[in-house]
Amino acid sequence: MQINNESKGIRINPMGRIQGEIEVPGDKSISHRAALFGGMAQGETHITNFLLGQDCLSTLACLKTLGVEWERRDAEVWIRGRGFENWHEPQDILDVGNSGTTMRLMLGVLAGCPFSATLTGDSSIRSRPMARVTLPLQEMGARILGRQEGKYAPLTIQGGFLQGIQFRSPVASAQVKSAILLAGLRAKGETMVTEPCLSRDHTERMLRGFGVDLKSEGCTAKVRGGAALSGQEVAVPGDISSAAFFLVLGTLIPQGELLIKNVGMNPTRTGILDALWQMGADIQVEEEREECGEPRANLRVRPAQLHGIEIQGEMIPKLIDEVPVLAVAASLAQGETVIRDAAELRVKETDRIQTVVQGLQALGANARELPDGLRIQGAKSLRGGVAHSHGDHRLAMAWVVAGLLAEEGISLQGIEAAEVSFPNFLELIHEIAES
Ligand code: S3P
Repeated sequence: MQINNESKGIRINPMGRIQGEIEVPGDKSISHRAALFGGMAQGETHITNFLLGQDCLSTLACLKTLGVEWERRDAEVWIRGRGFENWHEPQDILDVGNSGTTMRLMLGVLAGCPFSATLTGDSSIRSRPMARVTLPLQEMGARILGRQEGKYAPLTIQGGFLQGIQFRSPVASAQVKSAILLAGLRAKGETMVTEPCLSRDHTERMLRGFGVDLKSEGCTAKVRGGAALSGQEVAVPGDISSAAFFLVLGTLIPQGELLIKNVGMNPTRTGILDALWQMGADIQVEEEREECGEPRANLRVRPAQLHGIEIQGEMIPKLIDEVPVLAVAASLAQGETVIRDAAELRVKETDRIQTVVQGLQALGANARELPDGLRIQGAKSLRGGVAHSHGDHRLAMAWVVAGLLAEEGISLQGIEAAEVSFPNFLELIHEIAES
């Protein structure tokens, strides 16, 4: 195996074997919430295994601009919460970088804060749909101005008195659900959110851990206004979305065995395991346990021949972020894989239906776009070629996995995007490589 840095991008050469034990960095969704809820709570919140990716650092930076005091030593963070009543009007814009979670969850909290704040981010964030949160927050009473009538960032929000709502979200989105529930914590009466199928439920679990009386059943969650949060101890599990790259690599590499320790196993996030198992993967779940309201386990992966499957419906939100690397797996599976009901992929960090299909085609795979998904005809081998991340972290890492499995390897432009969620990705690849 060889990964050479070139002046323009990097070269990833094929690899025949991996071996070892690794831990992937902390879960991105849980790290964001731990920092945000810690900043809203009274008392100290102590977070361990906090993700040091750019996205979560953006959340910490925004909190500082809002007057929240915190200290960080490596992946350990202490937040000195004084309640969100004590947040102050930011003197400057809040820059969320590439982070949709920071933007949407922060809007939910700011909707109940009696001052104005302006949020923006990079070019990807400024093209992502925000009406899905600004419309319900406006209905609750927040005043929001932004490009194209508040549909796109930069957005300025003037928070204040809010009225609880019963909101039926048209999309299964944890960011939308969370934004409305967080606004609901300061609204008059009850706020209820129903989604078409259940998205990741970290907000519900963690708010309960912080002492909020949150009720949920099926696809509906509700809170009452006036709830106070109290500071907590949060041990963040490893991110299953980051583990996914190693699950696919460990399955499709010809030889070796890999143990990935302390992986978050929240059932709203384990769709990648279900999909890989259905495709024929050999992944064992070991030492299952629960800590801080979130299940976790060690995952042992060994090489296996995969076959194509159909993925759709309620399965989609459980693996939505893993589609790029799952598509790489599908291109090396026997037969066809079809992913449907996944139009949400078009509004992620990039239009991931388009960027994944075009990227796979450039590497010699047989992939086609569907309006709401992808159709991939697997083959015995992948040729390789030139790949681009388009600034999308999950594409960057999916292409590294493709390069390690491809006959000719790949030249990859834009690996630095991986910093968003997995800063030590290439280091871990080096660690398990055995040529
Ligand atoms: C996230 C929710 C999902 C996911 C994103 C993180 C979260 O987005 O794709 O990476 O932390 O709430 P949507 O809420 O847009 O589905």
